[in-house]
Amino acid sequence: MNEAQPNDCPLTPSPDMLNRRTFVRLALGAVGTCYAAAIGYPVYRYLAWPVEKSAAAAAVTEMTLRDAQTLPKGSVLMFKFGSKPTMLIHHPDGSWIALTAVCTHLGCTVQYLPEQNIIHCACHGGTYDPNTGANISGPPPKPLTRYKVNVTGTGVLVSRT
Ligand code: FES
Repeated sequence: MNEAQPNDCPLTPSPDMLNRRTFVRLALGAVGTCYAAAIGYPVYRYLAWPVEKSAAAAAVTEMTLRDAQTLPKGSVLMFKFGSKPTMLIHHPDGSWIALTAVCTHLGCTVQYLPEQNIIHCACHGGTYDPNTGANISGPPPKPLTRYKVNVTGTGVLVSRT
C-alpha cells in the first residue's frame, strides 16, 4: 500500500524543484545583470563625459532665448550655451552683449556687477569689461569669448561669431 512515488525520494528532483532552480538561476542572473549595470553605467559616464561634453559644446552654434528681449536694462540673464555658462547682458544704454561666463584664468564662473559696471571673478579677483569682455585686471590672461547677439520681437538669438 505504501508505494513509493518517484518524487518522494529526496535525491530525485521534482518538476517543482526544477522550476524553483530555474527561477533562482534567472533571479540571480537578473540581480547580477542589475548589479553590473549599476556599477558599469557610472564608470561609463565618468569615462565618456569629457567626450560627450566637448561634442555637445561644439555642436551648438546658436540658440534662441525666447522672450529674452524683455530683459530689463542693467540686468543679466545667465544661460548655458552648449555646456558653457554664458551671460546675456542688457546694458543701461540699451546695448546687448553675450559673453561666456567662464573665467579665462582657471575657469571659475564670473559674475556681472551692474552697479560697478564690471564682470568679476570671485576666485582670484579678476575683472573684465562688460562692454567688450576684455580682461582689465587680475590674473585672467585673455578676454571672455564674445558671441553675436540678434534681438528680435520674440527673443534673442545668440550665435558664435
Ligand atoms: S579663476 Fe578667475 S581670476 Fe582666477
